[in-house]
Amino acid sequence: MAKLTINDVDVAGKKVLMRVDFNVPLDDNLQITDDRRIEMALPSIKSVIERGGRLILASHLGRPKGVVNPRLSLAPAATRLAEILGKPVKFATDIVGPDATAKVAALQDGEILVLENLSFDEREKSGDELFSSQLAEFADIYCNNAFGTCHREDASMYGVALAMGGKPKVVGSLVEKEITYLSDVISNPGRPFVAILGGAKVSDKIKVIENLIGICDQILIGGAMAYTFSLAQNGNVGNSLVEEDKVELAKELITKAGDKLVLPIDTHCGDDFKQDCNKQVVPAGEIPNGFEGLDIGPETAKKFAEIIKSSKTVVWNGPMGVFEMPPFDEGTKVVAQAIADSDAISIIGGGDSAAAIAQLGFEDSVTHVSTGGGASLAMLEGKSFAAVEVLDEKETVAS
Ligand code: 3PG
Ligand code: MG
Repeated sequence: MAKLTINDVDVAGKKVLMRVDFNVPLDDNLQITDDRRIEMALPSIKSVIERGGRLILASHLGRPKGVVNPRLSLAPAATRLAEILGKPVKFATDIVGPDATAKVAALQDGEILVLENLSFDEREKSGDELFSSQLAEFADIYCNNAFGTCHREDASMYGVALAMGGKPKVVGSLVEKEITYLSDVISNPGRPFVAILGGAKVSDKIKVIENLIGICDQILIGGAMAYTFSLAQNGNVGNSLVEEDKVELAKELITKAGDKLVLPIDTHCGDDFKQDCNKQVVPAGEIPNGFEGLDIGPETAKKFAEIIKSSKTVVWNGPMGVFEMPPFDEGTKVVAQAIADSDAISIIGGGDSAAAIAQLGFEDSVTHVSTGGGASLAMLEGKSFAAVEVLDEKETVAS
């Protein structure tokens, strides 16, 4: 990718509209429980204000569907940003309304203004042209620094870039870094290249598996989606979560992938979706009636760890079991430990696997933890992002 970056343009005295992904988790008291998405956006935020730019930050939070919902206000994110930077951050109580318009006009060099949640306006999701141009009119420069949202074509991601016309539209360093990691790994991996896919549904990962069959040396499958594969092999899955309508597809993937697809050999199951249920470990495909699979078994975890140990590149997306309910977090922990211990280039995608790595304190032992869930999956599917394609190429503005 040779997109023009925020560091390539002169921002002094200019208004920069930076789309960030501050879609961060909040608890019942509206406290941010994980601020990685804010932290990871900092280099480009600092780059603008330290060079005397006037920074307008815009993001969505949650899915308010065009309705103003005070519980999904971006105010806590603005407060957190001010705490991290140790300097005031202004906040507009609307998006393109009178408050934002006045505050944008009053913005001074080196100052930051955060707009209210973009998704409070239904025109964000519909990609409305007028809304896109109202956002574009705020700024001299547009910067997409919202990797987690790059798979979307919302007004603030795509329409706004078109509406900028001849004004610079650039990538931020977070988007640049994430795309470089993920696309380099996919296009030129050190081998063996191993993908570990988990999570509840096969349907979420079908396109990823199809794309990775042509790229990876091995694809390890855990999580509840393994039970749909087990059903495809006529296994007994008891009460496990399965997608009956995806069994045929699972069969096709098994045939297509051949030896590359590594399915669990044992399963840790329980007789209820509860921590204190009766538990047992059984061979895969032999889950008794009345029991459901809740994690990969210890033999599978050991096998996966061995494969990870001898790999040169690892991509991981999705937990191996019910990570939030010990002891069904064991499989995920063993996999996370094996990735942390290995010398392989390791890319952790997605909300749940990123959370597991953070919870276990392994963030510094892996190569890259993505801030994107859906966006990193889209990259593993081999998709390109219209929201990035639309931005300026380095060459076009170089002279
Ligand atoms: C995410 O967390 O997946 C991104 O912020 C995008 O949010 P969305 O899936 O609600 O569009
Ligand atoms: Mg999402």
